[in-house]
This record gives sequence, structure tokens and C-alpha cells, in this order.
Amino acid sequence: MNGGLVPWASATTHVSAHALHYGSGVFEGMRCYETPDGPAVFRLESHLDRLYSSAEIYGLEIPYAQEELSEAVCEVIRRNDFNSCYVRPICYFGSGSLNVHPRSCPVEVVILAWPWATYLGAAGLEQGVRVTVSPWRKFHSRMMPTTAKGCGQYLNSMLAVRDAVDRGYAEALLLDSEGNLAEGSGENIFIVRDGQLLTNDDRHSILLGITRDAVLRIAGDLGYPVEVRALELDDLISADEAFFTGTAAEVTPISEVDTIRIGRGSRGPVTEEIQQAFFDATSGRDRRYAHWLYRVDLVGIESNQSFPLAQEFTPEFVECSKESAEKPPSGEIFIAP
Ligand SMILES: Cc1ncc(COP(=O)(O)O)c(C=O)c1O
Repeated sequence: MNGGLVPWASATTHVSAHALHYGSGVFEGMRCYETPDGPAVFRLESHLDRLYSSAEIYGLEIPYAQEELSEAVCEVIRRNDFNSCYVRPICYFGSGSLNVHPRSCPVEVVILAWPWATYLGAAGLEQGVRVTVSPWRKFHSRMMPTTAKGCGQYLNSMLAVRDAVDRGYAEALLLDSEGNLAEGSGENIFIVRDGQLLTNDDRHSILLGITRDAVLRIAGDLGYPVEVRALELDDLISADEAFFTGTAAEVTPISEVDTIRIGRGSRGPVTEEIQQAFFDATSGRDRRYAHWLYRVDLVGIESNQSFPLAQEFTPEFVECSKESAEKPPSGEIFIAP
């Protein structure tokens, strides 16, 4: 946290922090996977590139070089002895003034990590998840920069996912301001029809996901044609298969939309093939994608003791997957370069 290794309980911020009041921060979410070469962060550079560009959009000057943040991410993973985990860097305007303009607020930089299994439930990866079209629309990119990961932007996602879960669904599907499909509350969407993949892009108010980008590449390598265009709800309802992509959700099939079954109502063969290829990439089994894996160089460890963990932290999974969620092991820390 801000240049030091901080026990969980001491990793606090002041109640007058600008970001707490106005959501003025940017963040990333990435996964570190276990590979034969040790833990490796999937597409670390792409995630940090997006963090810096989100920060630039919001005028947050990150006071560290990108290489320093890469090293700090690895240090957090090493010091926690994680083989696999989720990593959350966040940069935000701290305490200085509560004017809406954050001019006198310092930029705080924190990296958190914790073990996180499947986001939409282990069963969801196999059987697919039930989704509902949200009554909340995704905001248009003229209202907020949809390609940035700004903290306050997630109030839109939060409204949508709370509504979906309250109505018994695993995830929400948000339409854009014109009524086309945008994305899930934290995932991009793909449709499979007649052996072809369809997805949308930033013209439809989506975050350009790094998993989406990986899946576009994998689909091409598997020989599937991909069309990028506006997607209507009818495209989804008449699809053979559909799936979400995202760092948290990985590749998760969609089985139903508002009680209408998609295809056969479970994971389809194309989704399964892409999902398998994705996990072969993240686990280092498929060497063609080895360049996507940023090895957490275990040689760099300063000492062989782990950091004394301050507190148990068990991040909740989405409510719909409570039963299937594995309880993560206790403890993790914050660190920053
Ligand atoms: C709104 C939204 N869309 C899509 C995604 C998927 O992006 P990625 O694959 O980079 O995790 C995320 C997750 O970060 C997200 O929050």
C-alpha cells in the first residue's frame, strides 16, 4: 500500500478519501494461475496497460512506473505464498479535499490479492448460468468512458446484479442505450450460431475485456469465424450457445435468459472447446499462449517466511453461487511498490 507491505488490518484509508465519496478511482482484476513453471499472472501487461489508460482518462497520475507495479503484483503473490489467486490493483484519490474536483487529493495505490475460485459457481462453468435482462441500461460512452475501469462506474453493475440475484438469477445482462446487448455486470458476451461466433464491441458501451480478446484469438486459432457487430436480444434467444467471458467469470456458458433456454440449455460443444482451450492457455498447458503468462519469479523472494497475515478475509462469491463456492483459505495482505 503506497510503497509498503501492510498487514490487512492496517491497510486503511481515511473516511474523507475523495474516492469513498465520489468513486474516483480506477482498478483492475486479474488472475494468477498455477502452471508447471510456478504461479503466473494471466496477461499482466494488458491489465496494467488498461489500468494506466483508465487512470489517464480520470486524471489520476500513478506515481509508479508500470514495471514497478508488475513487480509489486508478483511480490504480493510471493509473500502470500499463493499458487493461484485473484489480484486487485486500485488507484484512487485519497484524502485532501471534498470538492468534486480532486485537485488537492493524493493518489493512493494499493494491490490486494486473495484466493478466488469460480465467480459464477463451479457448477456454472459446466452447466451454464441463468441470466436476466436487466431493467438497468448500461450507460453510454458519452456519459462515462465505458472502456475504462472506473470505481464509480460499477454502481451501474451493482444495481443490475443485485436486481438479478434478488430475482433468482446468477447474473444480469445489460442492454445499451439503444436496446442492443451490451454485457454482463462484469463480463462480455459471445453468441454461437451455425458454427460462427458473434460478439459486440466498444460501440455498444462495453468494457473491452482482456478475456474477450484472448477468446477472439483462441476462436481464430480453432478455426471459428468471428463476427463483431451489434447484438440484439433475438440473436441471443435464437443462439445455439452463448457464454460470458471475464477475468472473474473466465468462460462461463449461459444456459437461460429469463427462463428461455439457450440452445440445449447447458454448455454447448463450441463453448466447451473454447473453455478448454482457454484453461489450457491459463494453466500453461498450451505453449502457444505462453506469452500471456507472466511468471511470478520465485527466485526474487527476499526471505523464506511469508508475511504474517493480519486477519482472515473471505471475500464473498456472488450470492447465487454461495452453495457451490469453495471457501477460500484465510488471509492475504496488501502491498504496493
Ligand atoms: C463491466 C465489465 N465487462 C467486462 C469485463 C471483462 O473484462 P476482462 O476480461 O478484462 O476481465 C469486466 C471485468 O473486468 C467488467 O467489469
